[in-house]
Amino acid sequence: MTGMQSRYEETYRRSLADPEGFWAEAAEAIDWDRRWDKVLDDSNPPFYRWYPGGRLNTCHNALDRHVAKGRGEQAAIIYDSPVTGQVRSFSFREMRDATALIAGGLKALGVGKGDRVILYMPMVPEAVMAMLACARIGAIHSVVFGGFASRELATRIDDCKPKVILSASCGIEGHRIVPYKPLLDGGIELSSFKPEACVILQRPQLEAEMIPGRDHDWQEWIAKAEPADCVSLEATDPLYILYTSGTTGIPKGVVRDNGGHAVGLYWSMHGVYGMKPGETFFAGSDIGWVVGHSYIVYAPLLYGCTAILYEGKPVGTPDAGAYWRLISQHGVSACFTAPTAFRAIKREDPDGKLIGNYDLSKFRTLFLAGERGDPPTVQWAEEHLKIPVIDHWWQTETGWTIAGNCVGLGMLPVKYGSPTKAAPGYDLRVLGTDGHEVPPGTIGALAVKLPLPPGSFPTLWQQEERYVSSYMAEFPGYYQTADAGYIDEDGYVFVMARTDDIINTAGHRLSTGGMEEVLAGHPDVAECAVIGAADELKGQVPVGFIVLKAGVARSNETISREVIQLVRDKIGPVASFRTAIVVERLPKTRSGKILRGTMRQIADGLEYRMPATIDDPAILDEIADHLKAAGFCRKVG
Ligand code: COA
Ligand code: AMP
Repeated sequence: MTGMQSRYEETYRRSLADPEGFWAEAAEAIDWDRRWDKVLDDSNPPFYRWYPGGRLNTCHNALDRHVAKGRGEQAAIIYDSPVTGQVRSFSFREMRDATALIAGGLKALGVGKGDRVILYMPMVPEAVMAMLACARIGAIHSVVFGGFASRELATRIDDCKPKVILSASCGIEGHRIVPYKPLLDGGIELSSFKPEACVILQRPQLEAEMIPGRDHDWQEWIAKAEPADCVSLEATDPLYILYTSGTTGIPKGVVRDNGGHAVGLYWSMHGVYGMKPGETFFAGSDIGWVVGHSYIVYAPLLYGCTAILYEGKPVGTPDAGAYWRLISQHGVSACFTAPTAFRAIKREDPDGKLIGNYDLSKFRTLFLAGERGDPPTVQWAEEHLKIPVIDHWWQTETGWTIAGNCVGLGMLPVKYGSPTKAAPGYDLRVLGTDGHEVPPGTIGALAVKLPLPPGSFPTLWQQEERYVSSYMAEFPGYYQTADAGYIDEDGYVFVMARTDDIINTAGHRLSTGGMEEVLAGHPDVAECAVIGAADELKGQVPVGFIVLKAGVARSNETISREVIQLVRDKIGPVASFRTAIVVERLPKTRSGKILRGTMRQIADGLEYRMPATIDDPAILDEIADHLKAAGFCRKVG
């Protein structure tokens, strides 16, 4: 389809001119127990509430109603796990029944509406069922990504105070078994708040030790459970909390409501992704991330699609044809993953030879997000797959696309390096530091004029003030995305860089500030800085610089090794923190501000201007020598 035929412009215009009409119409696709009193409550900005007075249940909309309407025998989830050698399909009916039992099990443990439940689980069907089971009884789930270590788990336990934690004995990372139980026990030991109970799914790959009185065996727990029905919830009741990196080590608890979430995600399945109910959607992510919440679990199921739950990697399980095998075997129509996955595939199979071994005839569209869709990767995928490759931009906070080529409305022409135009519902602007809009083509802060559409976060968990101060205060009346970029004359959005210290490593969102806090905790470290340096595969990787305290006699290598291990232990392997450089001093301005931006330019092999206020220019040469020795300072991409 060409731009001429696209319904994008009229749809976008209507979504902004008449948001209540637009989102009332979209809400008709959802089963409500009670209709809303008002589509949008805008009486208390910057807090906006969608569908107040409306009542529904998200699990009912994702499972039960499909069974009632004739989709009971269709696969809801296909669990494809090359790491355990299994492929298992669960129909909507089976999912509903299994979920109802878990919901009953949770009730038996005293979990009810509004109680929090943490899930610290690998990519197994029980994890998806458990998320939906929480939704079924109005409990609020908070999934913690398995690649995070105990300390990260502990901060989340202390913040959301879960009554129960659901976990498993282990995860499987390629060919490596990751014991989860010691990490779980460590997290609970570190946290001040203690959950009443843990339920552990024992996997045959590794049996976990149970703590009597606290831990329950998943199978025994389910064997005793009575199925529980869906409860009716307010549209504005929280469905889940998902923690995401902030600028400090304390993560932000992004809250998602029930009503707006169901409507926004449902709409996105046809509007953004151009899917039809009954088709198969594959999101190559993890349930611990927002992409996993929205597009492995909720959106496909709400829409009546089959969702793929893939416990494997794009490469190495067993090879770079893993995605093609999956797509052909399960007749996938749309795949959504991070560009880093494609860079990994391209590195192993540069000519895309493995693609030819599979029947990809049902595969219509590839969607990329999580980091900028770099043109070489997008073009490689286009050339070898011969289907549209769609870069779209979104965040944990928004839950779905802020800007993207809305396939369901008819594709717009592609401009490489741009996720195309703002999605319906998002009144996206570029603001200068004075808060005024800047002309087309000028870089500024990407900000969304309030209200955010349904599905975006209504608040942070028990941190309303932080919601305002982090996102809404800088530009009153706008949500500031913390991404900088520009919009060109044609309305195409270009997302350039984060304006805070968040970096993106293999599509994972990480805080360099959080890593600095860990490095500073090492007894020999006087000062430190962490920057994100460009990386061929992962997009960015963290690089740490440390200055040792006077009189430290141990070798630099030993201390580097120790701080690398410290980040792995405190934050987790997902940080990919592998480079820690001991330096005499850090480059600073005369007022003492560390010149992280200049260090990053050096690391990326870019031209940089000597900051006029630098206190000692010679230090930059030292930094450059170290970075070169560590393999950086080359232009990437
Ligand atoms: N549980 C435990 N450990 C995990 C984990 C999990 N769920 N996920 C990742 N890790 C570990 C990895 O095993 C690795 O450990 P290592 O340092 O011992 O090797 C470390 O965390 C870093 O992981 P990652 O950055 O993902 O690197 P990788 O080399 O394992 O894989 C890719 C690289 C590109 C193949 C992989 O990141 C990928 O498939 N990414 C694309 C899809 C995606 O997940 N996107 C996220 C949001 S859309
Ligand atoms: P997360 O909350 O983990 O989804 O990370 C969100 C951040 O990832 C955004 O603020 C961007 O910095 C970055 N990001 C995600 N998708 C894109 C994209 N398509 N283009 C550019 N940056 C992106």
